[in-house]
Amino acid sequence: MIKSLRGMNDILSEDYERFTYFLDTATKIAQKYGYHFIETPLLEETSLFKRSVGESSDIVGKEMYQFIDKGENDVCLRPEGTAGVVRAFIQKKLDKAGGTHRFFYHGPMFRYERPQKGRLREFHQFGVESFGVDSVYEDATVIMMLSDILKTLGIGYRLQLNSLGDSNCMPQYRESLVKFVKGCGDEICEDCIRRLETNPIRVLDCKNEKCQVLYKDAPKLINSLCDSCDTDFASLKKILEDNGIDYEIDTNLVRGLDYYSKTAFEFVSDNIGSQSAIAGGGRYDRLVEYLDGRPTPAVGFAMGIERLMELIEMPEITRDGYYIGAMDEEAVSLVVNLAQKKRKTDKVTIDYKAKNFKNHIKGADKVNAKFFCMIGSNEIQNATMTVKNLEDKTEQIINLKDF
Ligand code: HAM
Repeated sequence: MIKSLRGMNDILSEDYERFTYFLDTATKIAQKYGYHFIETPLLEETSLFKRSVGESSDIVGKEMYQFIDKGENDVCLRPEGTAGVVRAFIQKKLDKAGGTHRFFYHGPMFRYERPQKGRLREFHQFGVESFGVDSVYEDATVIMMLSDILKTLGIGYRLQLNSLGDSNCMPQYRESLVKFVKGCGDEICEDCIRRLETNPIRVLDCKNEKCQVLYKDAPKLINSLCDSCDTDFASLKKILEDNGIDYEIDTNLVRGLDYYSKTAFEFVSDNIGSQSAIAGGGRYDRLVEYLDGRPTPAVGFAMGIERLMELIEMPEITRDGYYIGAMDEEAVSLVVNLAQKKRKTDKVTIDYKAKNFKNHIKGADKVNAKFFCMIGSNEIQNATMTVKNLEDKTEQIINLKDF
């Protein structure tokens, strides 16, 4: 039997209901905040991710589904959504047009990671990207939108915040961190030795316990911020406080992608095990320019839908629509005709396999139909049928032509 690939799942039945409920809710909220849908391809040139997410990141360095296509192009399945949206933004010349552009997207992402609970090789994200606003109010608004989505879905979270500085203060901080880490001698892990050469600040979220102890007294980025970053970070905290959003400062939060500056954040859940990050994002003011666009400030986030699935509180299921069942062969074509007519206004499920009352009622319950009708030779002869309301148990006899 052929099975799906490791770390890649089918989504169907009850899961699919949760999945679409999540997408409907998140979409409505994003639209309320003025975001518009964007769809970008699943396949992109590999260089797009090398230049944005960064060659030193695990995502690009170790986890890409990368191959040479039939036209000799070096391509890969997207590991995340931001880079593609930025590429589209520049390609459509929206950077040159100026102004504010806000997008939301959802779809599959691919990372060749070691699969475990909450960590898949094909997973789905819902994300937003806002271009053209450098005010820290936009960072706060993006965080509040994410909080709105989670609260609407009944999902509890902890918000972790950090500032990654900008091109003024980051290089100096990086130097002092490198000096500190080199001072730890050869006790640091091999990954950190590599990170010192490629992207030193990633040592801060090294999972090796020995490294964590060694870096306990490492210099903290938020103590080295320049005036502009420091003021923005203070404002961000104040706006969140004013709007009742709790947060924790995590000075080691550096995110796994290289494009961030200033605001960085993660939403975590304590109820889903070790893969606890349910969403992450931040500001990336240099990325548009890095990808050859006109410098444009930007901020966004992405949520991991699979990690949210078991946390979503589904609304109470209400009965809806019609179920029409055939009692004998003769009734089948009438059942189909009536359903087609009714579907102009209502959801209709039909079963044209001839069955008795008990079995048809089972079918109606399965799809949570509100109204139940059955058609057999008697109904055809009298041109009437009984419509049963499965909610309040009332019944009504109607003429078929009035259905
Ligand atoms: P990210 O933190 O790499 O950020 O991913 C966002 C979310 O995707 C994570 O918080 C997690 O819930 C989910 N996720 C990541 N990897 C996996 C996996 N292997 N299996 C299941 N879920 C996963 C980004 O992707 C950025 N593009 C976010 C962003 C948008 N920043 C600015 N704009």
